[in-house]
Amino acid sequence: MGVNGAIPKLPSKRGTYLRNCWYVAGWSDDLTDTPQAKVFLEEPVALFRDGDGVAMAIGGRCPHRFAALGDGSVIDGALACPYHGLRFDGSGVCIHNPHLGDPPPKASVPAYPLVERYRLLWIWMGDADKADTALIPNFAWLDDPAWEAVRGVTLAEGHYELYSDNILDLSHANFVHPALVASAFTQGERKFWQDETHAYSRYTQKNDYISPALAGVLGVEGRKQDFFGEVTWHAPATLFFDYRAGEPGTFVEDMKALLSLHAFTPETPDTTHYVWATSRDYKLGDTEFSEGLHAALSFAFEHEDLPVIRDAHRLMAGQDFWDLEPLVLNGDGGGVRARRLLNKMIKFEASNA
Ligand code: FES
Ligand SMILES: [Fe+2]
Repeated sequence: MGVNGAIPKLPSKRGTYLRNCWYVAGWSDDLTDTPQAKVFLEEPVALFRDGDGVAMAIGGRCPHRFAALGDGSVIDGALACPYHGLRFDGSGVCIHNPHLGDPPPKASVPAYPLVERYRLLWIWMGDADKADTALIPNFAWLDDPAWEAVRGVTLAEGHYELYSDNILDLSHANFVHPALVASAFTQGERKFWQDETHAYSRYTQKNDYISPALAGVLGVEGRKQDFFGEVTWHAPATLFFDYRAGEPGTFVEDMKALLSLHAFTPETPDTTHYVWATSRDYKLGDTEFSEGLHAALSFAFEHEDLPVIRDAHRLMAGQDFWDLEPLVLNGDGGGVRARRLLNKMIKFEASNA
């Protein structure tokens, strides 16, 4: 859905995207009996559950008068167009015509592979034959009863790569998030590296105060801690943030952890579906704690990060990121790696199409 809950205005000049990969399409349990009208990578998509409750994704533009199929309803397991009632099954084929005559022989829309895993919906926007579920990044902790998540989903204005930059460069925390200020983010040890489809940023700082807010969340107010923070970027824009702290001298694997998902799925070149979650393995079932954590994190992500990135995106005025010759600072090692890798992958995919 667009910014105002409608289909966004689609630009005539299309962006370039990696297509043969899994994108997060939303939270699995948010897809109920009510279908959803979405746009991913500038393509209209209708999400719905068929008669067996299986999540389906088909092209979201009706081939008759182009209504948004995701605004329709499910009848006898098929998605009925809200305009004149043609019905499409999960393979995108029109199987029912409520008007005189059979379904028109060429009436169909594309079908997209869609998988429910780790409480998320994962959609494959490329060649369906290449959709390999083994390529879905591992977020098993979202599905693990030992961990309890607070989570959110929002539509964010701005190019999705600006959002990946934001997570890979934690140094912004000291300037954007007053409650998260810590020297770990600006003076701690940093390490950036990559492999073929991932970029990594690691921040460590020993024997120092972590931010006041996170000290409260971890129950270590006023005590110096060893800090470990590692961000893993999975191409094209699904990120895992492993945040840990422990008494000085604690091994990383023994530290208290907060695990986060930050998934950015492009809607258009100007808008991004943002799905996030942060999990803990303590204070399970403590609703008051969960509500406080949710309020703090949704405020940080949706009301502190988003306006900065939205306005930066607007100031870029549609120009190419590298054409603008951005300054590269020490904290950009992860973001720059991710951008270069993604660019290479998109070019490779286009040349092998
Ligand atoms: S626009 Fe869908 S049936 Fe007419
Ligand atoms: Fe942030």
